[in-house]
Amino acid sequence: MDEQPIIAQKGPYSVRIDAGETVYWCRCGRSKKQPFCDGSHKVTGFQPVKYTSQVTITLKFCGCKHTGTSPLCDGTHRSL
Ligand code: FES
Ligand code: FES
Repeated sequence: MDEQPIIAQKGPYSVRIDAGETVYWCRCGRSKKQPFCDGSHKVTGFQPVKYTSQVTITLKFCGCKHTGTSPLCDGTHRSL
């Protein structure tokens, strides 16, 4: 099946996460808690992407769901 994710936003979400914090990035684009998973992928073939930071940092999480470097933005949104 060639399922495409929903574009939640055509640009990244800047989110600060703490050292040692684990987040689950929404891969499917259906979550109401972007950029993170809220369980809405259950009706799709997608699974969230687990990400743990070693440091406290603000990161740009992909909102378009087409990045090649998930869960972070790689600029692909500019060509959508
Ligand atoms: Fe998806 Fe930038 S927001 S690549
Ligand atoms: Fe999108 Fe879970 S809601 S991956």
